[in-house]
Amino acid sequence: METANKKELIVTKIKNGTVIDHIPAGRALEVLKILKVNKQDKIALVMNVESKKMGKKDIIKIENKEVDEKEANLITLIAPTATINIIRDYEVVEKKKLKIPEVVKGIIRCTNLTCITNNDIEAIPVFVKISEKPLKMKCVYCDTIIDENEILKQILGG
Ligand code: CTP
Ligand code: ZN
Repeated sequence: METANKKELIVTKIKNGTVIDHIPAGRALEVLKILKVNKQDKIALVMNVESKKMGKKDIIKIENKEVDEKEANLITLIAPTATINIIRDYEVVEKKKLKIPEVVKGIIRCTNLTCITNNDIEAIPVFVKISEKPLKMKCVYCDTIIDENEILKQILGG
């Protein structure tokens, strides 16, 4: 049974699924967009709750769905502080403390239209991380640097 803590917003513990915790406040809606969720999915969304570590944070709980590696990597790009907790039979069985990958293959497009990755169908875009705060990634083929806004725009299809 869940015990009520005065300092905590009460959201039911989940039986099976994923809890994405420590999302920077205000980013939960963007994280939700990159997860392939359906209208039928059971999801709890908590925004702007107090966190000892972060001041404020967002939390997403998804029942009966375990976030995979590809989704986890995408989440890291837009919510670098997030922890992904896999829950089975009410227990946290895995806590993925994620890091923004040093190298990202095939997720981000190069913004330089003359880049080989935009002209050779077989060339897969590869970006290396050059800075985390602010997030900047560099195309290994043409050295074009793309920032967090561009990455968000691409991931969210904006
Ligand atoms: N959680 C949940 N349902 C469960 C188990 C855990 O919703 N059956 C949630 C907790 O409420 C918490 C997150 O999953 O938001 C991680 O759980 P836990 O590791 O127990 O919490 P903390 O130790 O506080 O996590 P951290 O160290 O990452 O802050
Ligand atoms: Zn390029």
